[in-house]
Amino acid sequence: MKKIVVLVSGGGTNLQALIDAANRGEIKNGKISCVISSNPEAYAIERAGNAGIPCVIIPRKDYSDSVSYSKAILAELDRQEADLIVLAGFMTILDKCVTEAYAYKIINVHPALIPSFCGEGFYGLRVHEKALEYGVKVSGATIHFVNEEADAGAIILQGTVDVENDDTPEVLQRRIMENVEWKLLPKAVSLFCEDRISIKNGKAYVD
Ligand code: GAR
Repeated sequence: MKKIVVLVSGGGTNLQALIDAANRGEIKNGKISCVISSNPEAYAIERAGNAGIPCVIIPRKDYSDSVSYSKAILAELDRQEADLIVLAGFMTILDKCVTEAYAYKIINVHPALIPSFCGEGFYGLRVHEKALEYGVKVSGATIHFVNEEADAGAIILQGTVDVENDDTPEVLQRRIMENVEWKLLPKAVSLFCEDRISIKNGKAYVD
């Protein structure tokens, strides 16, 4: 059984999707062993508690910069003996001390079709605001490995939804979460735990 550590910052609907999938037996060969929150107020903490999963709070605001924060995260990941780290609505970019120590062992869900609407500054609702501003006709979400560059690691899975004329950022966000994020994130996590993702020339392939 691989030990899965989930990092969160907010509402935690993606964490909930993982918990629900695990309860349905859809995460094969993996178990969520710990949740780490960067935000002491995150509702995700309650979701972890309700599911009986230990939660560690490491507040981002207690650290002056990204490197010192990342070192604290790294120490906790090592303590937890994490086999897989899932960034599920985690709103802090991790320094390379973490991404190098856990190369191809960190998975992120990004709410757009990478390489569009991604990178530093593109997170949460802002991503959907930008997509609507641009006038794209499809959007979606990307599940990818995390490397030292924001949203630039190997893509594992992507899924799309149509953008409707009267969409607001909130409506588009919800459609993408329901139809793509909550389905593909648990799927990618299970694929990882089953050792069904391989890397060739920096790209990820599902066997
Ligand atoms: C999700 O849409 C996730 O894709 C996005 O934030 C939301 C978190 O929701 N993540 C990012 O923008 C990271 N760059 P949740 O807390 O309910 O899972």
